[in-house]
Amino acid sequence: MNFDQITDRRGTSSTKWDKYGNADVLPMWVADTDFQVPPFILDAIRQRLDHGIIGYTNTPTSLTDAFIGYAERTFSWQVDPDWLLWLPGVVPGLNLAARAADRHLIIPTPIYYPFLAIARNCGLSEHLVPMIRDDGWRLDMEALAALPPGGIIMLASPQNPTGRVFTRHELRELAELCSERDHLLCSDDIHCELLLAAGAKHTPIASLNEDIRDRSISLFAVTKTYNIPGISCAVAVVPDASLRSKMRAERVDLTQGAGPLAFAASEAGFADTSSWRDELRAYLAANAQLVQDCVAQLPGVWMEPVEGTYLAWINVADLGLNNAQAYFEDNGLGLSPGPQFAGDGFVRLNFGCPRATLQDGLERFSRAANKAVG
Ligand SMILES: Cc1ncc(COP(=O)(O)O)c(C=O)c1O
Repeated sequence: MNFDQITDRRGTSSTKWDKYGNADVLPMWVADTDFQVPPFILDAIRQRLDHGIIGYTNTPTSLTDAFIGYAERTFSWQVDPDWLLWLPGVVPGLNLAARAADRHLIIPTPIYYPFLAIARNCGLSEHLVPMIRDDGWRLDMEALAALPPGGIIMLASPQNPTGRVFTRHELRELAELCSERDHLLCSDDIHCELLLAAGAKHTPIASLNEDIRDRSISLFAVTKTYNIPGISCAVAVVPDASLRSKMRAERVDLTQGAGPLAFAASEAGFADTSSWRDELRAYLAANAQLVQDCVAQLPGVWMEPVEGTYLAWINVADLGLNNAQAYFEDNGLGLSPGPQFAGDGFVRLNFGCPRATLQDGLERFSRAANKAVG
């Protein structure tokens, strides 16, 4: 796969690229990549299209089998077909999980911003628990332990925006806390294939033991990996039968399952055993290093190394900007604003793009940062 290939996305109503119209602002914000979708995914969609009728569609058994095979092959995790609930996206899954749980929300921050809307959407209370930065970003286990029992922890694992890939040890500690404090846990694992740091390994928290399995809802999708988020499909793994039936009941007539084109693409993704993902990871890891090197030599900015995702969480507080997003846009670069993620003083840069695009973006970033410090 040629990840260096540049595809013009302007004029396709792309959320990322249409934001700035024809202005000279390079968009490095919303989390899709500028890479071509691999041929085996496109072929699966085409094959389904060639049938000529796109009717209402039940979840294909072959899709369920593909996910179960993926979980077994990738995580040595035995998933029961009855546990699965297919959905038109991870974000609907987060909201359905919260509604079904009907408990106070516990959300480590900074966090992918739709997490911050769940309490309001679902009429629940929330506790935001800032992560700690010492030797890299980590969960504040003491603050988590001090919260009232009987909640639901909403986790992004790997973490967006910090790029942390939680270790098995960290997840085991969190699972123990859930058990001790009678919390449920909803884990959004959408970025779990985007592992960049040497030795980074993803563990689905539900795979650790039976206790956390039965108190968790895990959300998976292939949409980030293969750059098909526009096709909208995710799967919730809900081992506990009563939680699962509550989630099913909550979704009735509000959100459907996904459609046949999304099923076809997801099946091809979950069944993929080619080297495509390794190539993607190697390309993204080199991009992450370029971002890290660029940030390291600039005054007034810092970031922790990205272990997973294609997102860099960069602190620009010392640049003394009133509105960092607006400042970088005025200087030709479209970034996501930290406050949207409950992360004041930060911007998020999406480096899921061809190297030449990234180099252009980093030049813009450096020029703007240097200008700000005078
Ligand atoms: C952590 C996380 N969860 C969910 C999503 C979106 O999922 P979906 O498009 O399936 O709702 C994103 C997209 O950026 C994400 O980063």
